[in-house]
Amino acid sequence: MTDSLPHIRRSDFPADFVWGCSTSSYQIEGAATEDGRGESIWDRFCAGAGHIRDGSSGAVACDHYHRWPEDLDLARSLGVNAYRFSIAWPRVLPQGRGAVNQRGLDFYSRLVDGMLERGLQPWATLYHWDLPQALQEQGGWQQRACVDAFLEYTELVTRALGDRVKHWITHNEPWCSAFLGHHEGNHAPGIRDYAAALQVCHHLLLSHGLALPVIRRNAPGAQAGITLSLHPIEAASHSAADAAAHLRHDGSRNRWFLDPLHGRGYPSDIWALLGAQAPQVLDGDLAAIATPTDFLGVNYYFPEVVEDAPGSGPIATRVVEPAGVERTAFGWQVSPEGMVTLLNRIQRDYGPSRVYLTENGSTYEDQPLPDGSVLDIERRRYLARHLEAAWQARAQGVPLQGYFAWSLLDNFEWAEGYLRRFGLTYVDYPTQRRTLKASGLWYRDFLKS
Ligand code: NOJ
Repeated sequence: MTDSLPHIRRSDFPADFVWGCSTSSYQIEGAATEDGRGESIWDRFCAGAGHIRDGSSGAVACDHYHRWPEDLDLARSLGVNAYRFSIAWPRVLPQGRGAVNQRGLDFYSRLVDGMLERGLQPWATLYHWDLPQALQEQGGWQQRACVDAFLEYTELVTRALGDRVKHWITHNEPWCSAFLGHHEGNHAPGIRDYAAALQVCHHLLLSHGLALPVIRRNAPGAQAGITLSLHPIEAASHSAADAAAHLRHDGSRNRWFLDPLHGRGYPSDIWALLGAQAPQVLDGDLAAIATPTDFLGVNYYFPEVVEDAPGSGPIATRVVEPAGVERTAFGWQVSPEGMVTLLNRIQRDYGPSRVYLTENGSTYEDQPLPDGSVLDIERRRYLARHLEAAWQARAQGVPLQGYFAWSLLDNFEWAEGYLRRFGLTYVDYPTQRRTLKASGLWYRDFLKS
């Protein structure tokens, strides 16, 4: 098989373009009970039978808590100029609020210093899904009090790191926290209640908006934003029913977030479908959610094709998997064109001043060769094609200013455990040996070009 890759070079992008890779705390850190870290909802969820496909957890993961200097060296060796990571809330506030765990804060302080010493711009995500279990015991994100707890946590972390971290992301993919965690129940905390998910979603967005002034006060000159998981959406057929399903699905997956963040409130067509399940929104909430950000973070993986599904719930849509399209090992459709479509759509409908692709990546069945090398040509091609798509989106006028590959390392892929590898680096979990895959080597060469 010939492996023709698009001819895309770093020099096709502006010199100040941000090139990075992303990780998250629970997926890589391990050291789940060390140095005073409290329990997170993911520790608890993983302990439940049948929750994680391989029965694993993030208790050890990539042991990044101990191996972070090596991991930052690896990031530097790629030639990226930024590194996106997240802070584990239960490491710094083991009970969610109240008593501070200084050793947890010190870890992130060392980590940030380590990035700066290596010329890596730190991009910190405050919430990448690892809520302190103690807060969940009090109702978690379903309770409005969780918003106050998040603000206390934001105050603590931005005070400690705001002198050095100048890029802050409040939430990572609130759709997943809300709907996978509280409706589908296949993510922590494993609740299956649509109304609860909608209320959680509102509290996540509210906490984002209220956190922005806290970040700006404690991190002068910083850029702050939110990262959404967004999908270009297509109708499964030309029928009127599927066309309407397309609109509803887009409304619940994309506009439900983008509209309130851009001052339009929740989309009225979707709100009308929710009836008594609609979230409680208090006076002033929508204004807080619409607090201006400095950028929009977009995690792009795949397009969704939807059909009408009467009786399946208030949105009444179903995602289908059309035959004959290229897919990753997760079954996700490979569509760099979809990324261009999505970015243009965001630009046309919302006009954010800056956009960063804060995640993009793929999972395939990696098989190390006898010499330990990993020839992941499909991931390499996925990466190259999506960088070409990033270039196209820019050429079409999207103010895209950075790209972060997911992920620096293979890691704990949530409900899939360690069965799905997304890394540019292969992690041999028994030995914790890291080996740059062909995709990582390609990214490194690209970044030199
Ligand atoms: C998005 C999430 O932010 C990240 O945690 C996850 O590993 C990747 N998608 C891949 O599924």
